[in-house]
Amino acid sequence: MSNTQQGPAPVASERTPLKARNVSFDWADTPLHWLPGRPFATHTINVLHLLLPAGERWFVHVYRQALPLITDERLRRDVIGFIGQEAMHSQAHDAVLPHLKAQGLDPTPYTAQVDWLFEKLLGDRTLPPGRPRRWWLIERIAVIAAIEHYTAFLGDWVLNADELDRRGADPTMLDLLRWHGAEEVEHRSVAFELFQHVDGGYARRVRTWAVAFTALVFLWQRGARFFMANDPTLGGTGRARLADFVRDGRRGLLPSAGAMAKSVPRYLSRGYHPSQEGSTAQAVAYLASSPAARAAEARTRGGS
Ligand SMILES: [Fe+2]
Ligand SMILES: [Fe+2]
Repeated sequence: MSNTQQGPAPVASERTPLKARNVSFDWADTPLHWLPGRPFATHTINVLHLLLPAGERWFVHVYRQALPLITDERLRRDVIGFIGQEAMHSQAHDAVLPHLKAQGLDPTPYTAQVDWLFEKLLGDRTLPPGRPRRWWLIERIAVIAAIEHYTAFLGDWVLNADELDRRGADPTMLDLLRWHGAEEVEHRSVAFELFQHVDGGYARRVRTWAVAFTALVFLWQRGARFFMANDPTLGGTGRARLADFVRDGRRGLLPSAGAMAKSVPRYLSRGYHPSQEGSTAQAVAYLASSPAARAAEARTRGGS
């Protein structure tokens, strides 16, 4: 592509072939507060189930349109692997929602808004073919690269969040989060490399980061408030305050505010490449031991 920017070199040892794992989870035994006695931390993490079904479906939708722009075979293979993984993530989080509803926490009022955001506001516009349509596609590719900085950050966090184990987190939910987190770490370079390949402009990186970060903070605090206010066990008194977030971050139940703040200048550094963050070896090791990923592997072998 003629306007491809030369970016920083990736760390070669962090590259791994990408494949989707056809996982499934049984939620029958997962309690509403899957982190026992910690409704705020539970629901703050539960916001993932509100945002990711529509969000990751949108990634797939945008990336299918991006495929014709890719002139590098290896990147094309990575993007196809990424599409397969994100489609599966979206379905896996979507499958948690009926379980929440069955426990008296109907997520539909919130997910209807998220669906509108991704399908209408960030969807395909009626734009003339050519430059305007291409501009909107590249803008969305850049937004996805910024979001993927955070999915990789969260994936790395959850793989290392030993405090969740110590506090007796539900093993099925932990496996969903860590299977997903490990695949986010595995494919963390793809979105940035695609953005570099089709545009890579620094001003666009900064602008779309600001949009993505603001939207994520807004949606997350709203989602946590929604869950806390509608949690039937809290009798309408549940609140989600910044102080709770800071407190649970210090306890290791959520990412810490400090770690999140430090991740900002890394993405905005001109020398940034996602392969400098997180560990592919750790992700691959988790996927080799994940109950859901192992069951998926066994099913694939059995069916082939
Ligand atoms: Fe994902
Ligand atoms: Fe991802």
